[in-house]
Amino acid sequence: MTASYDKWWQTGVIYQIYPRSFMDSNGDGIGDLQGIIDKLDYLNNGTPDSLGIDAIWMNPIFPSPMADFGYDISDYRNVEAIFGDLTTFDRLITQAHQRNIRIILDFVPNHTSDQHPWFIESRLSRDNPRREWYIWRDAKSDGSPPNNWGSMFGGSAWSWDEETSQYYLHLFLDKQPDLNWRNPQVQEAMSDVLRFWLDRGVDGFRMDVASYIIKDDKFRDNPPIPKAEHVPSNDLWGQQEHIFDVHRPEVQDILRQFRHLFDSYGDRITIGEVWAESREQWATYFGEKLDGLHLPFNFDLLFKPWDAQIIRESVDELEAILPEGAWGNYVLGSHDVSRLATRFGRRAVRVAAMLLLTLRGTPTIYMGEELGMIDGVISLDQIQDPQGLNLGADRSRDVCRTPFQWSDDRYAGFSTVTPWLPIADGYTTCNVKQQQDDATSILNLYKRLIDLRKNTPALNRGIYQPIDSTSENCFAYQREYKDQQYLVILNFSDVVQNPLFQTGQKNGELVLSTELDCQDTVELNNITLRANEGVIIKMMK
Ligand code: GLC
Repeated sequence: MTASYDKWWQTGVIYQIYPRSFMDSNGDGIGDLQGIIDKLDYLNNGTPDSLGIDAIWMNPIFPSPMADFGYDISDYRNVEAIFGDLTTFDRLITQAHQRNIRIILDFVPNHTSDQHPWFIESRLSRDNPRREWYIWRDAKSDGSPPNNWGSMFGGSAWSWDEETSQYYLHLFLDKQPDLNWRNPQVQEAMSDVLRFWLDRGVDGFRMDVASYIIKDDKFRDNPPIPKAEHVPSNDLWGQQEHIFDVHRPEVQDILRQFRHLFDSYGDRITIGEVWAESREQWATYFGEKLDGLHLPFNFDLLFKPWDAQIIRESVDELEAILPEGAWGNYVLGSHDVSRLATRFGRRAVRVAAMLLLTLRGTPTIYMGEELGMIDGVISLDQIQDPQGLNLGADRSRDVCRTPFQWSDDRYAGFSTVTPWLPIADGYTTCNVKQQQDDATSILNLYKRLIDLRKNTPALNRGIYQPIDSTSENCFAYQREYKDQQYLVILNFSDVVQNPLFQTGQKNGELVLSTELDCQDTVELNNITLRANEGVIIKMMK
């Protein structure tokens, strides 16, 4: 039996919102849930005039001291006051669902805040009932940490607790102690957290650092990377191979438990943040019997240069490694990496949009990519991100977290007061208001692409078939479903291309160009692509 691939999370488009930076409704310079509610019509009002996305994934909205901007949670069952409250959240769910927008929350299972009551209790004494909820170890005989593991945010992954004379583990900040997932009580408490939100109508979760939650039971040292001279001396994490601290096989048992819980609620989904060392490792996260994550995020394209053949290779590899019945996905931007217009260059923005929205696999759009936003310029004294503060300005993720650009008003229409991060350059032209009125804007390209994908089974669920062309600078593929056949050709270069293909067919109908300026019948053996142009052609029989 062949799988049908027609679930909402397979045919739909996910949109990532970084709530601090999307829309400030109460004039404190920080985005909030009411701001998201106010902008739901922008995301999907049921007509092709809106973006037309199917689900929102929001970064953490829970009470937090904000040492890592919400990834340090002090209460898993409430909403951070900066963002609103549970009533506003319920309103968001209702109003989103009325527009067929699903809500996906960020679940942070690996660590809590050091201000979470569980950790406050855990550090009280060695025999506190919550002691084993976290990972405590004695010092080595010379007083040094139990092993060589590093924190992703710099320094050792172990911090010394004077009161109880033991080290506790934190793969991130010392303010983010790691939970002990080998403890069944932790597993049960976290399942309760998931039930709390699932019962409120949440449609799924993105699991933060899903592959990190179980550590080696013997706490063995990681082997050093032989040539890590370029890595800053305090970046212990960057100097090691991650054999014993992450990707431990037992993590699959936990993910299977989550999946079981989600399945008991019907059509809910589990996305996982998985930074894998290899394709093979990544694919294990679907679970042996496809009983793990629905969508382990595929970050491969985040680290590729803008090159037609390299991108094709990445896509082909994904297609080849996907277990039977599993469904792929693509990510081109997030709150953790430089924006695509900055990474690939502005010239690449339109082709990147067409690529993301015509591949076989669920696309996740990071807010602002649909406008072609670029990285913000953050001066040294403005850096807020702990990664930038600890490991150097060039590692700061603030650059991709600047406020969303709604208009050319002061503060880009995001807020009425100075926002928590500065507005990125170019917002007076790169903003929703301006692009909505420009028929050939990037925003309108995204809308057309999403609408076309939604209404074309070949593009949302059809098979993917790469097509060899005579041009090295072009990446071409067909998407096919029943008798529908589409050809996508993407020119990655600044030069006009005339690629030739062996497709069997002679003619096609050009349904969409990234320039949004032409629709025509084309001869397949005589196609010209402009510099940095992509086209979608409907094949004629
Ligand atoms: C994930 C998040 C990142 C956060 C980290 C620690 O990588 O995407 O923003 O800092 O986990 O929770």
